[in-house]
Amino acid sequence: MRFSDLIIKKRNGLKLTENDIIFMIEEYNGGKIPDYQMSAMLMAIYFKGMNNSEIRYLTKAMIDSGKIIDLSSIPGIKVDKHSTGGVGDTTTLALAPMVAAAGVKVAKMSGRGLGHTGGTIDKLESIEGFKTELSLNKFIKIVKKVGVSIISSTSDLVPADKKLYALRDVTGTVDSIPLIVSSIMSKKLAAGADAIVLDITTGSGAFMREYKDALKLGKIMVDIGLEFKKEIIGVVSNMDEPLGFAIGNSLEVKEAIEILKNKGPEDLRRLCLVLGSYMLKLGRVTKTYQEGKNKLEKILKSGVALNKFKEMIIAQGGNSGIIDNPKLLPLAKHCTKIKANKSGYIQKIDSRLVGESAMLLGAGREEKESKIDLSVGIVLKKKVGNRININEDLAEVHYNDSEKLKEAKKKLLSSFIIGIKKPVKLPLILATISRQGIKEFR
Ligand code: URA
Ligand code: CA
Repeated sequence: MRFSDLIIKKRNGLKLTENDIIFMIEEYNGGKIPDYQMSAMLMAIYFKGMNNSEIRYLTKAMIDSGKIIDLSSIPGIKVDKHSTGGVGDTTTLALAPMVAAAGVKVAKMSGRGLGHTGGTIDKLESIEGFKTELSLNKFIKIVKKVGVSIISSTSDLVPADKKLYALRDVTGTVDSIPLIVSSIMSKKLAAGADAIVLDITTGSGAFMREYKDALKLGKIMVDIGLEFKKEIIGVVSNMDEPLGFAIGNSLEVKEAIEILKNKGPEDLRRLCLVLGSYMLKLGRVTKTYQEGKNKLEKILKSGVALNKFKEMIIAQGGNSGIIDNPKLLPLAKHCTKIKANKSGYIQKIDSRLVGESAMLLGAGREEKESKIDLSVGIVLKKKVGNRININEDLAEVHYNDSEKLKEAKKKLLSSFIIGIKKPVKLPLILATISRQGIKEFR
C-alpha cells in the first residue's frame, strides 16, 4: 500500500477501508509516514469528511496505537468526564471532587491548554507542589483511597493522538468532526472508565461554533461509546460566553474553590450540577437525575466536596493551604480594568476573543512548547444580559508583562457587545444525547 494513493482516495471523496485506516495510523505512529503527507491527509479528511464506519475504524486504530488502562482493581463503576473545550471552563476542578464525595470513583486523565482554550493540568499546576505526572500504580492507589485523582495523560495513552493533535494544531485541521471524535473517544475509551459523561460545547469559544454541528458531533461520540459497550451521556452546553467569571489558571482554581464552598458563579455551578448528576446516575449511586442533583447540592452545602478536593491535593503532593488562603496561589503583579464605553445591556461576550486575550497575557500557549504564566488572566465583572453603565467595569485584567497588555486589553474590549435592548439569553444546557436519543431544550 502506498500512502500517497490513500491521500488521493480521500481527496477524491472516497471511503477509506478499515485496512487503509489501520495502515495509516500504524505507519504514522511508527514514524514511517512523514508529517507533510499526513498533513495533506488531514486536510483531505477536513474537506471530504468521513462516514460513521470510517470514524469508528479511526478511533479503534488510534486506541490500538497505545495501551488500554486497566482500572479493574478499583472497586465500583468508574465514571469519566470530558469536555470538547472551552474558555474559563473550570468544571473538572470542582466537579471531580463533588462526584467523588457522592461516592463515584473518578480516575481522570486530563490535558493541557492549547490555543485559546485552557487545560485542567495547567490549572492544577498552579497549586504549589501538586504533581500531575504520577505512575499508574500511584494514580490507582489514590483513586482507591481518596476516590478521585486527576493526572496528565500517560505517554502510552493513545500516542497517535499526541502526534496527530500537534500536527492538526498547526495545519488548520482541529475543528473537523471525524478528527475531534476519534481524538477524544480514543482517549476516553483507552482510559479505562466504565461510563463517560461528555460536555459538548458550542458557540464562539468552542470548536463547534454552530449548535447543529455540536449536536452532530455529540451524537457520533455517544454512538461510538455505546458501540464500545460504555454507558455514555452527552450534554450540549452553551460556550458562547466564557463559563463563570475567571479565565486563567490560578484564577480558575480560585473560582473552583468558590464553587466547592457553595458559592461562585451561577452558570459554572449549574453545569457542575448537571454533569455531576449524570455522572452519579451512570455510576449507579443514584437512580434519577433529580436525586443526584439533590445529593450534590447537599454535598456542596456541607463542605464534604471541598474536603474531598483538599484530600486529593494532599494525596498528589500539593499545598492544601490554598483552600483557606487562595492568596497562596500564584498572583499577578498588576491588575487593571477595562470599562464600558457606553450604557446598555451586554449582548454578547465572544469567548474566543476573551480566550485569545488571556493567551496574549501569557495564560495560554501559542505553541506546544511555550511556557505559560499561571498567575495571569481575566475576571469578568459582567455577563450576557447584565445592565452596564458607561465607565462601569467590564473586566479586570491580571498581568505581569506590560508589553502585550495594550493588545490584550484591546482584544478583550472588542469581545463585549453592548446594545440597548435586554437580550434573550440561550439556556446553558441546550440538549442531552443518550441511548434513548436526543432531547433538546432550546
Ligand atoms: N480535545 C481533544 O482532545 N481533541 C480534539 O480533537 C479536540 C478537543
Ligand atoms: Ca471560569
